[in-house]
Amino acid sequence: MKNVLITGAAGNLGKAAVEKFLATGYHVTAIVSIGDKNKLEGTGTLTIYEADLTNEKLVEEMIGKIITKHKTIDAAILTVGGYTSGRIETTDGDTIQKMIELNFCTAYFVARPVFQHMLSPSGRIILIGARPALSPSDGKNAVAYALSKSLVFKLAELLNAEAQGKNVITSVIVPSIIDTPANRKAMPNANFSDWITSAEITNTMLFLASENGKALRDPILKLYGNS
Ligand SMILES: NC(=O)c1ccc[n+]([C@@H]2O[C@H](COP(=O)([O-])OP(=O)(O)OC[C@H]3O[C@@H](n4cnc5c(N)ncnc54)[C@H](OP(=O)(O)O)[C@@H]3O)[C@@H](O)[C@H]2O)c1
Repeated sequence: MKNVLITGAAGNLGKAAVEKFLATGYHVTAIVSIGDKNKLEGTGTLTIYEADLTNEKLVEEMIGKIITKHKTIDAAILTVGGYTSGRIETTDGDTIQKMIELNFCTAYFVARPVFQHMLSPSGRIILIGARPALSPSDGKNAVAYALSKSLVFKLAELLNAEAQGKNVITSVIVPSIIDTPANRKAMPNANFSDWITSAEITNTMLFLASENGKALRDPILKLYGNS
C-alpha cells in the first residue's frame, strides 16, 4: 500500500486530501497542528502525528520516525500555509518573517528530509503556491504573502534540479481562491461557483502522485477556475 504524507491535514485543503487519498487506497500519514489530532477521524490506514512544523529539529526527528515506521513515503503533500494582506507601506520585516516561517519554513523543514529519503528510489512532492507570488498586480496587495510563497516556487525548481536523472518530481499547485467556509464568510458577495473546489485540487494531487504523472517535469499547475 502506498504511503502519502500530508501536512496541514486538519485544514480545509489538507483534510480534503486526506479523505481523497484514503478513499483511493493509500495509507495516509497525516501531520496536524498540536492539539488538532481529534479533528480527523482515525481509520486503519490513517496515522496521525501532531507537530509544530516551524520547529526544524523536531520535524527532522519526526520524519525519521515516520520513515522507520512506514518504510516509504511515496508522496508528500505540504499544505501548511496562511494569508495576510498588506501593501508595501504596511509590510514590515516582522510580518515578512512570520509569513516566511508559515509558508516556506513549514514546507522546507519537511521537504528536506523527505526529498533525501525519496532519492532512492522515487517519490513525489507537492507544494502549494499562490497566485500573488506569480502575478505582481495581485501580489502588491499582499506583499509578505507573495514574497513568502515565491520561495515555494524556487524550492521546487531547486529540488527538481537536484533530482535530475532521478525519479523524484516536485510540483507546485497554484490555487486561486478555494471555495472554503472561511472564504465564503470573508467574501459573501462573491460568485462562489467561479472558485476552485478542494475536490478539483485533490484530483490533481492524485494525478501528480500517480504513475500517470511521471512524465511531467517542473510542473506548476495553475488551478484558477473562473476567478
Ligand atoms: N484558501 C485559499 O483560498 C487559498 C488560496 C491559495 C493558496 N492557498 C494555500 O493553500 C494551502 C491550504 O490552505 P487552507 O485554506 O487549507 O488553509 P487552512 O485551512 O488554514 O489549513 C492550514 C493548516 O495548517 C496548519 N498549520 C498552521 N501552522 C502550522 C504549523 N506551524 N505546524 C503545523 N501545522 C500548521 C493549520 O493548523 P491551525 O489551524 O491549528 O493553525 C491548518 O490546519 C495554504 O498553503 C494556503 O496558503 C489557499
